Amino acid sequence: MDISSRLDQVVKMVPKCSAVADIGTDHGYVLIALLKRNRITRGIASDNKKKPLEKAMMNAREEGVASHLDFRLGSGLETLKPDEVNGAVIAGMGGILIQDLITSAPEVVRSLDFLLLQPAQNPEILRKFLYENHFEILDEEMIKEDRRYYEYLMVKYVPEKTASLRKLADYSVGDILYRKGHPLMEDFLNDSIRELEKIQDKMDLSSENARNKQVEMNKKINELRRLRDGNAG
Ligand SMILES: C[S@@+](CC[C@H](N)C(=O)[O-])C[C@H]1O[C@@H](n2cnc3c(N)ncnc32)[C@H](O)[C@@H]1O
Repeated sequence: MDISSRLDQVVKMVPKCSAVADIGTDHGYVLIALLKRNRITRGIASDNKKKPLEKAMMNAREEGVASHLDFRLGSGLETLKPDEVNGAVIAGMGGILIQDLITSAPEVVRSLDFLLLQPAQNPEILRKFLYENHFEILDEEMIKEDRRYYEYLMVKYVPEKTASLRKLADYSVGDILYRKGHPLMEDFLNDSIRELEKIQDKMDLSSENARNKQVEMNKKINELRRLRDGNAG
């Protein structure tokens, strides 16, 4: 079974443990790969729609690992009981939805050793939420596939946690990624700058609102440039 680089990175980041839940499992590839690579012994494949779950079930049967999986229908982490699994993966959903799913199941979240998150959009919104809600960011990763950057956040809820990581460029740059000098960081910063400049070029500055927005964007572009040039401040 071949999986995309995006999913392969998810699989690589899950620590060897006994049980993992994959929330929004769709095809089930993450758990199937984890089982086939002997990284877990049991998995819970969860999705809020029947069709994806059936697809996951079929794929797991084809790969000979279905007996190690539970298939659960329902929203987010609400299909789990506290302490049922060591950790959970939520990949390929928007950062805002991931935030909602985390917020909706506090007891389960408290019981997890790790949550591995791969937001498909708005990683900055998710990062802000995690910083402000007592999550420790244990690790961050990034890959580029088909000219898109994908970010990964390995986190754990730690009630006594107070923010220790820096907020960089409105949370759009991961402090851990930056500190570890991630090989994609320079390209990521340059592409982020170019994207903001493109938006600015198209902006109609006739309203005060738009002019204020442009000031904010200039600040962000300057911060991204400082980061690129190695002056994180
Ligand atoms: C874009 S797919 C991502 C699949 C896989 N996790 C991946 O990264 O390739 C999103 C999946 O999440 C499911 N989903 C959407 N909202 C959900 C929710 N509230 N709870 C559980 N699953 C959800 C969808 O049915 C779909 O199967």
